[in-house]
Amino acid sequence: MRLFLDTADLEEIKTAVGWGVISGVTTNPTLIARAGQDHETQVKRICQLVGDVSAETVTEKKDDLIVEGRRLASWHQNVIVKVTSTPDGLAAGKVLAGEGIRINVTLCFTVNQALLAAAIGASFISPFVGRLDDIGEDGLLVVRQIVDAYRQQGITTKVLAASLRHPVHVTGAALAGADIGTMPFTVLGSMYRHPLTDQGIERFMSDYRKTQEAQPARR
Ligand code: E4P
Repeated sequence: MRLFLDTADLEEIKTAVGWGVISGVTTNPTLIARAGQDHETQVKRICQLVGDVSAETVTEKKDDLIVEGRRLASWHQNVIVKVTSTPDGLAAGKVLAGEGIRINVTLCFTVNQALLAAAIGASFISPFVGRLDDIGEDGLLVVRQIVDAYRQQGITTKVLAASLRHPVHVTGAALAGADIGTMPFTVLGSMYRHPLTDQGIERFMSDYRKTQEAQPARR
């Protein structure tokens, strides 16, 4: 499973890119607003740092979405245009996909929405795991079902598990067969951690220091 960061914070993206583990970023209007920049400036900056950057459309009608999607895609070759699972969103997505623009169908909560995304030639489908859990449904189950349905149908749209809120979601998304998991920086950081790793490092370092102290002084 490829790992993406779900943020518009440049420092977080630079750090995670430096760690060598992420290959993309997902943004949404909420995350861009949190970064305190305008959409175009921030998405262009993110595209300088990493490939596969999802940027969300904010218009509602098919024709407006087509114009907006073309504009987003013109910002940088790394931009993937996000549309939502509405008749207008998907109709616009189909036109844009036909022009070679990569589409990410976002705010997906059912297998049927994922089938519609595949039908318009979307490159990515984003089931929102945490938001399903929030309303008492099983987000990871939906990811697993989408993966299964796509396999059975020979669909090549990539499953991008989104709204991953904690490390258990990440593990679950991988076991469910998601192609990509996108997560906040804090969740990515938590993937590294285990108390036994910390204890083990401390013990090795302390034993190493003992071996250094035990060495006879060199001339
Ligand atoms: C993904 O594209 C979304 O930006 C994101 O994963 C939403 O996560 P949230 O439900 O925690 O806001």
